[in-house]
Amino acid sequence: MSKRTFPKEFLWGTSTAAHQVEGNLTNDWTAWEEVNAARLAREATRHFATACPVWPEFEAEATDPANYLSGSAVEHWDRFEQDVTLMRQLHLSAYRFSVEWSRVESREGQFDQAALDRYRTWVTALQSSGIEPFVTLWHWTLPTWLTERGGWESAQTVEYFRRFVDRVVGVMGHDVRYWLTLNEPNVYAGCSYLTGTWPPQKRSLLAHERVVSNLLAAHRAAYAAIKNRYPDAQVGIAHHVTYLDTNGRPWNKILKRAADWLWNWRYLDLIRDHLDFIGVNHYGRNRIDRGFNRNPNRRVSDLGWELYPPSIYGALIETWQRYRKPLYITEHGLADRNDRDRAWFITESLKYVRRAIEEGSDVRGYFHWSLLDNFEWDKGFWPRFGLIEVDRKTQARRIRRSAQVYAAIAQSGRLAREDDPRLQVNVPQARSEP
Ligand code: BGC
Repeated sequence: MSKRTFPKEFLWGTSTAAHQVEGNLTNDWTAWEEVNAARLAREATRHFATACPVWPEFEAEATDPANYLSGSAVEHWDRFEQDVTLMRQLHLSAYRFSVEWSRVESREGQFDQAALDRYRTWVTALQSSGIEPFVTLWHWTLPTWLTERGGWESAQTVEYFRRFVDRVVGVMGHDVRYWLTLNEPNVYAGCSYLTGTWPPQKRSLLAHERVVSNLLAAHRAAYAAIKNRYPDAQVGIAHHVTYLDTNGRPWNKILKRAADWLWNWRYLDLIRDHLDFIGVNHYGRNRIDRGFNRNPNRRVSDLGWELYPPSIYGALIETWQRYRKPLYITEHGLADRNDRDRAWFITESLKYVRRAIEEGSDVRGYFHWSLLDNFEWDKGFWPRFGLIEVDRKTQARRIRRSAQVYAAIAQSGRLAREDDPRLQVNVPQARSEP
């Protein structure tokens, strides 16, 4: 295998999550958006103006409360077939989407067969296009009846989740091979129960620990429920893995060990016997130098997140060395409205993925976040993560140039040479040091 070529079975995909793309939902997040949109709009300039390199282009949008209401999102629910056609045009071989609990069980114990059937048609449409579905069973949103009963703070939610999963798998399990139980329990628990930025906006270590423990119990229950019906199904979790990067000084190494355990490993350690593979969601590093977040930020995304391609190598190698399970990169991407860094970031990062494979880690697929521009949680619509640009007024889709670069990689299974003209036009100029 040449240095630029990926294994033949390597999957090339994209990821989305129901709440961010489907539209017209009623769940704990939509309720929270109604109450908080005006506040988020007021706070936008203070939070993002210094981090976002193209803030003036966003300011009007980000200071408008409408930006913070998921509303019709990008109508993926109704436009799924059209979006599969786009995936085909991009030569993708896998797609990760989530099933929205509030759609399937909008009232306790009452399951909506039509919604489940619609999701089943998605699976069929993907498969008849040669695209492998990866189905996430929970990507952060809850039906409102469940929040009223305490959400993930309540141990009873574990049983509710098991029952929901059993229903979904009963309908779709025959055709779906890959399941992701939960998306990023560490990010969810942190933002919803420690920093208090996301619903239900609590700041309590005790509640946080309860939520983590219930989420991991829910993972184990879902794993068992799926295996019970389909023993050959492959069940994993989508875990947010940050690469904690140090200069090797002893004190920094101690900080790294502690942070690695708290953020990356303690979750996976507790479920390692219930994982057929690990989904690695990776967005960057946290550089430690007598403190955290000492990143030089030479290049940043529109959200101010550092673009540092080698970090994916660190995340993959460390996850592989600790667990020795197959890995899929279930998310990796950037907010880049003008598409100036995306092609470069994908291509450079994939070189490091390739290197991790060459050095023995069993990485089996890459899913770019995201297929479409979408609703970025408490930041709303202004950050643009899509390989495909969406005009929310008309819902028109337009394939970005970076998507064409990614499509060429997906089609050939190899990285383009540096002098590939499609890549050159997207190579950004280095920004000045902060
Ligand atoms: C989440 C996505 C989110 C993305 C970009 C991930 O942590 O799973 O839902 O849109 O990051 O912020």
